[in-house]
Amino acid sequence: MVFRQRAARGVDERFAGRVELGCGHTACAYRARDTERGIDVVLKVASLQFVDVETSRGWLESECLALKSLQASSDGTEASERRSGRIIQCYEDHTKESTPFIVLESWGTQTLERYFRAWVGSEKRMPARIAQSLWTQIQEGLAYMSDRSHTCQWIHGDLHFKNIMVDTSNQDEPTLKIIDFGLASTEQEGDEERQPCKDAQTVAQTWRSWFEVKPHHVGLDPADTKEKSTNMFGLLEACAGDPSLCPAPANWLTTAMALEGTADVRPPPSTRVFQSPLEKAGYCPK
Ligand SMILES: Nc1ncnc2c1ncn2[C@@H]1O[C@H](COP(=O)(O)OP(=O)(O)O)[C@@H](O)[C@H]1O
Ligand SMILES: [Mg+2]
Repeated sequence: MVFRQRAARGVDERFAGRVELGCGHTACAYRARDTERGIDVVLKVASLQFVDVETSRGWLESECLALKSLQASSDGTEASERRSGRIIQCYEDHTKESTPFIVLESWGTQTLERYFRAWVGSEKRMPARIAQSLWTQIQEGLAYMSDRSHTCQWIHGDLHFKNIMVDTSNQDEPTLKIIDFGLASTEQEGDEERQPCKDAQTVAQTWRSWFEVKPHHVGLDPADTKEKSTNMFGLLEACAGDPSLCPAPANWLTTAMALEGTADVRPPPSTRVFQSPLEKAGYCPK
């Protein structure tokens, strides 16, 4: 199998058994065996269907830059590592080549959207424990992206459930990672449209839309859906009308933001232990 576009030299030999995962406006994603690393990876390759090569190159380059900045921001503590683990890694940037592509960590077998759909289709009820765990994992990713102790605070900008991958190899403990940072940007002061809680709002609204379809299939009992979800959605909806009402990012991992009031949610550490390479360089990519 070859890339839709002319393959960059050496790429066909190095990345074996490519399987197409999906094509969007600017790129196509493939799962492949990286014969150098000896692991499966995802290649996100410029697609020239809708945009020219320079535009595609720019999107991919900025996606990998965002992911590398996020990776470099971990302070090495267990909490920080766990949170940074909610975000996919970019291993390599090959956007300078004639066919621009980036090499990403491969994670999971399905999108969160497909995972939710499967629960609804199965007519079984997603255990509240799993719902809470998925919610907390997303919050961990968001808390990490907006951590004030990092040099850059990142906004995903496109955080619907097709951009979250779920690994279900342990059915009782599905784990997720956020993907597709093609529209990610650094937080700009005074830019209300790009408030970090917009990401949380997107997630909450999507989640709420699943409750509305079949509440008892996505982790909550229909009898108390309203009560249990009031805190979580109320906080996020308040900031739709007035961004100053957004919960501070540091407050995302609090009990007020939990699906279950008693859930074990851990706020991010407030003090910085370690300077990331990007911070040392005083570098914040825009
Ligand atoms: N790192 C990854 N691991 C596993 N699957 C992925 C990964 N990146 C992308 N995919 C799959 O490819 C699809 C398209 O990738 P995505 O980055 O969302 O591109 P687009 O910008 O075209 O939406 C995703 O919906 C997902 O199914
Ligand atoms: Mg996508």
